[in-house]
Amino acid sequence: MKEIEIIVPVTVKDYSELDACERSLVDAARRATAGSYSVYSHFKVGAAILLDNGVTVTGANQENVAYPSGTCAERSACFYAGANYPDARFEMIAVAAVGTDGLEPATPTAPCGACRQALLEYEMRAGHHVPVLLVGRDSVYRLPSVASLLPLAFTEF
Ligand code: THU
Repeated sequence: MKEIEIIVPVTVKDYSELDACERSLVDAARRATAGSYSVYSHFKVGAAILLDNGVTVTGANQENVAYPSGTCAERSACFYAGANYPDARFEMIAVAAVGTDGLEPATPTAPCGACRQALLEYEMRAGHHVPVLLVGRDSVYRLPSVASLLPLAFTEF
């Protein structure tokens, strides 16, 4: 028997410590929360994806009275990117939120498991690591890749 340890490297930055590219993607994710349709949870999520063609695609969570029919911000953004820019590769992803109190949560908002799996597919299609920025009021968590958010992922059958 042996044990393996999986370590997830997270860089914690203040907004002021982000480079221009990261900052602009964080701003886009924050703006994207305005497109959230979240009349049930009142939790607004915005996602922004920078593509290698220079385009930034955004998405926001879209809820539905039949709950599972809704979609998270990350999947609305990555599926839009896939459908409209099928040849573009993902370069970077940012996720931001506005909580039920109308404020940005202090703790950075992280994608749900289903979104991690969906985003991973685009990282694999890109063929390189796609950094992920998780935005909070007090700090931004930078992960080096989608894969680092989803250890032991299902990737083939
Ligand atoms: N939500 C997202 O948009 N992204 C996530 O990764 C987690 C959750 C949305 C789904 C639902 O509309 C609301 O946040 C509350 O769960």
